[in-house]
Amino acid sequence: MKKFTCVQDIGDLHTALQEAFEIKKDHFKYQHLGHNKTLMLVFFNSSLRTRLSTQKAGLNLGMNVIVLDINQGAWKLETERGVIMDGDKSEHLLEAIPVMGCYCDLIGVRSFARFENRDDDYNEVILQQFIQHSGRPVFSMEAATGHPLQSFADLITIEEYKRTPRPKVVMSWAPHPKALPQAVPNSFAEWMNAADVDFVITHPEGYELDPKFVGNARVEYDQMKAFEGADFVYAKNWSVAQGENYGKVINKDRNWTVSSRQMAVTNNAFFMHCLPVRRNMIVTDEVIESPNSLVIPEAANREISATVVLKRLLESL
Ligand code: CP
Repeated sequence: MKKFTCVQDIGDLHTALQEAFEIKKDHFKYQHLGHNKTLMLVFFNSSLRTRLSTQKAGLNLGMNVIVLDINQGAWKLETERGVIMDGDKSEHLLEAIPVMGCYCDLIGVRSFARFENRDDDYNEVILQQFIQHSGRPVFSMEAATGHPLQSFADLITIEEYKRTPRPKVVMSWAPHPKALPQAVPNSFAEWMNAADVDFVITHPEGYELDPKFVGNARVEYDQMKAFEGADFVYAKNWSVAQGENYGKVINKDRNWTVSSRQMAVTNNAFFMHCLPVRRNMIVTDEVIESPNSLVIPEAANREISATVVLKRLLESL
């Protein structure tokens, strides 16, 4: 595997899941692979889980790990080509990226949607520049339109907890005070479309995701109807994904907050969320603290998904 930005990069999901469960039994099984290899993690945005789980995955594989927070101590970076750099940005990304590539063997990048220009976000201009100019295998630690390490961890979690061979998985929009990117719901949809599940997406009108990610999912605007018989409920907020309101919040209806009212019509569903989560906006205290809440096992599986991905990238060197 030369890069990891989407579900296609991981190939056959059954094989990837088997590898994940093998690593889950022994996190250090492939420790020899990373000897004298350096992992660089570049963050343009904040993180708790991705930072820690990906560092841990690098250590599991015997790698040296360097973390760079672009906004804390690095030069302020210009990202547009052709700009006269007479402002506060001291370095251009087109020099910074190959320099970073000089110091490592693999590069992970976190660079969220900026909501300035939808085409730039959906063309993944920052991530693509790392792929083109670093000279190293690159993996996404959540980019503008996808968060594949999260979705792989979510898939591992569903595989571990499913009670039927083909569970019903419902991804539900939920309210949030601020505009959030579509990366997590896009990726989750992409991975669920590739997995053997009955997948339903529910959201208020106006929050339609890009059809490229919706794929064959059933879209149901009535949240209660969508939740009927669900085995897994995956809650997430996202901002408007298309059209003139791209990146905006047009609905804060707390009737969409996942509570025991909606969970009552499910098939005793498990509750999932990628975290961080705003309690009593996205989900009530009662649901997230219930025995059916999988938010901590999901976060734990971030170490597993990252270890599988780094292992495969190391094997390609
Ligand atoms: N789920 C997730 O990616 O968490 P962080 O933003 O804390 O890394």
